Amino acid sequence: MAILKIPHLDFSTNNATEIREFMNQRNIFFDQWSCDVLFEDNATQDQILEAYSADLKPFMNKGGYETADVISIHSKTENYEAIRAKFLAEHIHTEDEIRFFVDGQGDFWFHLENEEVFCLTCQKGDLISVPAGTKHWFDAGEKNPFVKAIRIFIDLSGWVPHYTNSDIEKKFLA
Ligand code: LAC
Ligand code: NI
Repeated sequence: MAILKIPHLDFSTNNATEIREFMNQRNIFFDQWSCDVLFEDNATQDQILEAYSADLKPFMNKGGYETADVISIHSKTENYEAIRAKFLAEHIHTEDEIRFFVDGQGDFWFHLENEEVFCLTCQKGDLISVPAGTKHWFDAGEKNPFVKAIRIFIDLSGWVPHYTNSDIEKKFLA
Protein backbone atom coordinates (compact mmCIF):
# COMPACT_ATOMS: atom_id res chain seq x y z
CA MET A 1 0.00 0.00 0.00
CA ALA A 2 1.52 3.28 -1.10
CA ILE A 3 1.49 6.63 0.70
CA LEU A 4 1.58 9.93 -1.21
CA LYS A 5 3.01 12.92 0.63
CA ILE A 6 2.98 16.50 -0.60
CA PRO A 7 5.13 18.39 1.91
CA HIS A 8 4.31 21.96 0.83
CA LEU A 9 0.59 21.26 1.25
CA ASP A 10 1.13 19.22 4.38
CA PHE A 11 -0.98 16.56 2.64
CA SER A 12 -0.78 12.80 2.68
CA THR A 13 -3.03 9.96 1.53
CA ASN A 14 -2.94 6.21 1.23
CA ASN A 15 -6.04 6.02 -0.96
CA ALA A 16 -4.90 3.91 -3.91
CA THR A 17 -7.42 5.35 -6.37
CA GLU A 18 -6.45 8.89 -5.48
CA ILE A 19 -2.76 8.05 -5.74
CA ARG A 20 -3.18 6.33 -9.09
CA GLU A 21 -4.99 9.35 -10.50
CA PHE A 22 -2.48 11.80 -9.10
CA MET A 23 0.46 9.89 -10.53
CA ASN A 24 -1.14 9.05 -13.86
CA GLN A 25 -2.03 12.72 -14.42
CA ARG A 26 1.68 13.36 -14.17
CA ASN A 27 2.53 10.62 -16.60
CA ILE A 28 3.93 8.41 -13.85
CA PHE A 29 2.37 4.99 -14.07
CA PHE A 30 1.23 3.55 -10.74
CA ASP A 31 -0.58 0.32 -10.12
CA GLN A 32 -0.91 -2.40 -7.53
CA TRP A 33 -0.49 -6.10 -8.09
CA SER A 34 -2.01 -8.42 -5.55
CA CYS A 35 0.56 -10.24 -3.69
CA ASP A 36 -0.09 -13.21 -1.46
CA VAL A 37 3.27 -14.90 -1.77
CA LEU A 38 5.58 -14.58 1.20
CA PHE A 39 9.28 -15.06 0.58
CA GLU A 40 11.95 -16.24 2.95
CA ASP A 41 15.00 -13.99 3.19
CA ASN A 42 16.94 -16.45 1.09
CA ALA A 43 14.37 -16.66 -1.73
CA THR A 44 16.16 -16.60 -5.06
CA GLN A 45 15.65 -14.05 -7.78
CA ASP A 46 14.10 -16.73 -9.99
CA GLN A 47 11.60 -17.77 -7.31
CA ILE A 48 10.46 -14.18 -6.93
CA LEU A 49 10.22 -13.51 -10.68
CA GLU A 50 8.38 -16.80 -11.18
CA ALA A 51 5.85 -16.02 -8.42
CA TYR A 52 4.88 -12.82 -10.24
CA SER A 53 5.11 -14.11 -13.78
CA ALA A 54 1.34 -13.87 -14.34
CA ASP A 55 1.52 -10.08 -13.88
CA LEU A 56 5.07 -9.58 -15.01
CA LYS A 57 5.01 -11.30 -18.40
CA PRO A 58 2.06 -9.42 -19.94
CA PHE A 59 3.35 -6.13 -18.53
CA MET A 60 6.80 -6.73 -20.03
CA ASN A 61 5.46 -7.89 -23.38
CA LYS A 62 3.20 -4.88 -23.68
CA GLY A 63 5.93 -2.40 -22.79
CA GLY A 64 8.67 -4.08 -24.80
CA TYR A 65 10.78 -4.62 -21.70
CA GLU A 66 13.50 -7.19 -22.10
CA THR A 67 14.90 -7.95 -18.68
CA ALA A 68 13.87 -8.11 -15.05
CA ASP A 69 15.87 -8.71 -11.92
CA VAL A 70 15.39 -8.46 -8.17
CA ILE A 71 17.07 -5.99 -5.87
CA SER A 72 17.22 -6.97 -2.24
CA ILE A 73 18.45 -4.59 0.46
CA HIS A 74 18.25 -5.36 4.16
CA SER A 75 19.87 -4.46 7.45
CA LYS A 76 22.87 -6.68 6.71
CA THR A 77 23.51 -5.36 3.20
CA GLU A 78 27.17 -4.43 2.92
CA ASN A 79 28.06 -0.91 1.82
CA TYR A 80 24.50 0.23 2.37
CA GLU A 81 25.64 3.80 2.96
CA ALA A 82 27.25 3.93 -0.48
CA ILE A 83 24.23 2.28 -2.11
CA ARG A 84 21.93 4.78 -0.40
CA ALA A 85 24.08 7.73 -1.45
CA LYS A 86 23.93 6.69 -5.10
CA PHE A 87 20.16 7.21 -5.32
CA LEU A 88 19.75 9.90 -2.70
CA ALA A 89 20.94 12.67 -5.02
CA GLU A 90 18.48 13.98 -7.59
CA HIS A 91 18.94 12.22 -10.92
CA ILE A 92 17.31 11.18 -14.17
CA HIS A 93 17.61 8.09 -16.36
CA THR A 94 17.49 7.75 -20.12
CA GLU A 95 14.91 4.97 -19.83
CA ASP A 96 11.85 4.43 -17.66
CA GLU A 97 12.56 3.33 -14.10
CA ILE A 98 10.16 0.53 -13.23
CA ARG A 99 9.96 -1.06 -9.82
CA PHE A 100 7.55 -3.54 -8.32
CA PHE A 101 7.76 -3.81 -4.54
CA VAL A 102 7.63 -7.41 -3.43
CA ASP A 103 8.31 -6.49 0.20
CA GLY A 104 9.79 -3.73 2.33
CA GLN A 105 9.49 -0.09 1.35
CA GLY A 106 11.19 2.99 -0.01
CA ASP A 107 10.46 6.64 -0.79
CA PHE A 108 10.48 7.97 -4.34
CA TRP A 109 10.80 11.74 -4.41
CA PHE A 110 9.71 13.57 -7.54
CA HIS A 111 10.72 16.99 -8.77
CA LEU A 112 8.58 17.68 -11.83
CA GLU A 113 8.71 20.83 -13.95
CA ASN A 114 6.58 23.65 -12.53
CA GLU A 115 5.56 21.63 -9.51
CA GLU A 116 6.57 21.37 -5.87
CA VAL A 117 8.32 18.19 -4.76
CA PHE A 118 6.18 15.24 -3.70
CA CYS A 119 7.00 11.81 -2.33
CA LEU A 120 5.54 8.38 -2.92
CA THR A 121 6.31 5.71 -0.36
CA CYS A 122 6.12 2.38 -2.17
CA GLN A 123 5.40 -0.80 -0.29
CA LYS A 124 4.48 -4.43 -0.92
CA GLY A 125 2.31 -4.71 -4.03
CA ASP A 126 3.09 -1.29 -5.51
CA LEU A 127 4.26 -0.91 -9.09
CA ILE A 128 5.72 2.34 -10.33
CA SER A 129 7.04 3.41 -13.72
CA VAL A 130 8.91 6.70 -13.75
CA PRO A 131 9.32 8.06 -17.28
CA ALA A 132 12.79 8.64 -18.67
CA GLY A 133 14.03 12.14 -17.93
CA THR A 134 11.95 12.62 -14.76
CA LYS A 135 13.94 14.19 -11.94
CA HIS A 136 13.73 12.00 -8.85
CA TRP A 137 15.63 10.47 -5.97
CA PHE A 138 15.07 7.45 -3.76
CA ASP A 139 15.55 6.66 -0.12
CA ALA A 140 15.09 3.42 1.78
CA GLY A 141 16.04 5.14 5.04
CA GLU A 142 19.16 5.70 7.03
CA LYS A 143 18.78 2.67 9.27
CA ASN A 144 17.38 -0.84 8.89
CA PRO A 145 16.61 -0.59 5.17
CA PHE A 146 14.36 -3.27 3.74
CA VAL A 147 13.57 -3.39 0.03
CA LYS A 148 12.75 -6.40 -2.11
CA ALA A 149 11.81 -5.11 -5.53
CA ILE A 150 11.59 -6.37 -9.08
CA ARG A 151 13.34 -4.03 -11.54
CA ILE A 152 12.22 -4.07 -15.15
CA PHE A 153 14.41 -2.77 -17.96
CA ILE A 154 14.52 -2.29 -21.69
CA ASP A 155 18.28 -2.17 -21.52
CA LEU A 156 20.35 -2.13 -18.35
CA SER A 157 22.50 0.72 -19.65
CA GLY A 158 19.48 3.04 -19.62
CA TRP A 159 19.28 2.86 -15.87
CA VAL A 160 22.54 4.65 -15.03
CA PRO A 161 21.78 7.71 -12.87
CA HIS A 162 22.58 11.10 -14.39
CA TYR A 163 22.85 13.56 -11.54
CA THR A 164 21.36 17.02 -11.75
CA ASN A 165 23.58 18.34 -8.91
CA SER A 166 20.72 20.54 -7.76
CA ASP A 167 21.13 19.46 -4.12
CA ILE A 168 17.36 19.85 -3.78
CA GLU A 169 17.09 16.52 -1.93
CA LYS A 170 18.97 18.02 1.02
CA LYS A 171 15.99 20.24 1.79
CA PHE A 172 13.82 17.18 2.28
CA LEU A 173 16.20 14.94 4.16
CA ALA A 174 15.88 16.49 7.58
C1 LAC B 1 17.06 4.00 -9.12
C2 LAC B 1 16.10 4.53 -8.12
C3 LAC B 1 16.10 3.86 -6.88
O1 LAC B 1 17.58 4.76 -9.89
O2 LAC B 1 15.89 5.87 -8.25
O3 LAC B 1 17.26 2.76 -9.10
NI1 NI C 1 16.44 6.48 -10.35
